Amino acid sequence: MECVVQGIIETQHVEALEILLQGLCGVQKERLRIHELHLKSGPNLGAVPSDLKILCDLEQPEPTWTVRHVGGPMRGAGADQISVLVRTMLESKASKNVLRFFYALGYKLDHELLRVGFAFHFHRGVQITVTVSSINKMLKLHATDEAVPVTPGMQLVEVTAPASSENYTEVVAAMSSFCEHLAPLLHLSKPGISTGVVPTAAAAAASLMSDGGGTTL
Ligand SMILES: *[C@@H]1O[C@H](CO)[C@@H](O)[C@H](O)[C@H]1NC(C)=O
Repeated sequence: MECVVQGIIETQHVEALEILLQGLCGVQKERLRIHELHLKSGPNLGAVPSDLKILCDLEQPEPTWTVRHVGGPMRGAGADQISVLVRTMLESKASKNVLRFFYALGYKLDHELLRVGFAFHFHRGVQITVTVSSINKMLKLHATDEAVPVTPGMQLVEVTAPASSENYTEVVAAMSSFCEHLAPLLHLSKPGISTGVVPTAAAAAASLMSDGGGTTL
């Protein structure tokens, strides 16, 4: 399982967010350039529709491939009360013919995206990953060099952490406390709940830029 929250930030404040994250995490960012192919299963693959993402990491010297399936959110009263989404997630490394393999199984390309940005991977009691990326669409099939932003001037921020049904309360608590540090710049909530940009972002960004990221914990 994984715990996840998302938010959006104006591109003009991304540099300030990067300074803040750098100070909080104490690790170097990794560049991110990921071609996402969203597949849907064909009608002959059983009654339950299944969505898959094939991810191609274009930042590596040789592109590497991953298959990712995101399952449903955890349900129940406890799940409604927490501000973090807990969901099942399956991920597996794959070889470069993975797309042909899923086409042969009857999957069809639904849409494709290019995610460009950066990620921080670090440990704060639990393993946390923060990604900041612009989402781009391709004007021609697979033409990642001609991608255009879906929401110009806005970037998506995603915070995720691996969890299990035994330890998710601990993971949620650690993630929530980490996210509080980002609150002046952006609001993070369960995916699908759109909260918009925070009014304090411009002031918080200006102060982060002027003190040059002196904020550490
Ligand atoms: C929770 O469980 C997941 C899956 O087993 C594991 O990857 C993660 O490190 C665990 N986190 C903690 C804080 O124990």
